[in-house]
Amino acid sequence: MNKNLRKAVIAGNWKMNKNRAEAKALVGELAPLIKDAGCDVVICTPFTDLDVALEATKGTNMGVGAQNCHWAKSGAFTGEISADMLTELGVQYVIIGHSERRQYFGETDLTVNQRVRAALDAGLTVILCVGELLEQREQGITREICGMQTRVALGGVSQDEMKKIIVAYEPVWAIGTGKTATAEQAGEVCGFIRSVLADLYDQATADATPIQYGGSMNAANAAELLSQPDVDGGLIGGASLKPADFAAIVAAAGK
Ligand code: 13P
Repeated sequence: MNKNLRKAVIAGNWKMNKNRAEAKALVGELAPLIKDAGCDVVICTPFTDLDVALEATKGTNMGVGAQNCHWAKSGAFTGEISADMLTELGVQYVIIGHSERRQYFGETDLTVNQRVRAALDAGLTVILCVGELLEQREQGITREICGMQTRVALGGVSQDEMKKIIVAYEPVWAIGTGKTATAEQAGEVCGFIRSVLADLYDQATADATPIQYGGSMNAANAAELLSQPDVDGGLIGGASLKPADFAAIVAAAGK
């Protein structure tokens, strides 16, 4: 497995944090700290911060993403935002299928797939989240769950479109809990997801697709997690709100 086939991607998922002024300040603090990054850097902000983030990241090496999008182009979907609305703003990335969407907002593998399709059709790069619950890990069905989530989410996605897919393996029990998967656990499941991609497409496609780990990744544990051959970056929640911590993770990924 050759890690040089793909560039690491460190993405911050700000979740429902930071107002517009705070977003501008955070980007301003972050930009000089990560300007020499040896990996791709993305910040995924609340919808209401996207235009501020896009403006503040101009001329920097940071990409901007949203945290969800709807599958329809437009219509009677109160409270939703379409993929085209994001690209119109200049947004390049979108997180789809985050476990918090699945857990609290009724997202299913099928709606994740529909959202992935819409995002790709709009030209967005998708950060597709998969991951098992604690009970599922304890039942020994982590691979089945992650494999199924990956397969359903990528239904109808062509080999060529895989260039616009980043997979994020986020074990639900490790999100916001301070309980990180061990580097071996993270590496094992990321490797398994890559084997699913090889089965769905081919080995070259699987080798070219970045697979991130997410779940309590921080400045202290990032280097070890990222040293795993199949872990190509991270999707960072809490630590992405602290410029020095996020920058340290970016530095670890660029090594
Ligand atoms: P934490 O890094 O806060 O555990 O969140 C991870 C996550 O859900 C990123 O999408």
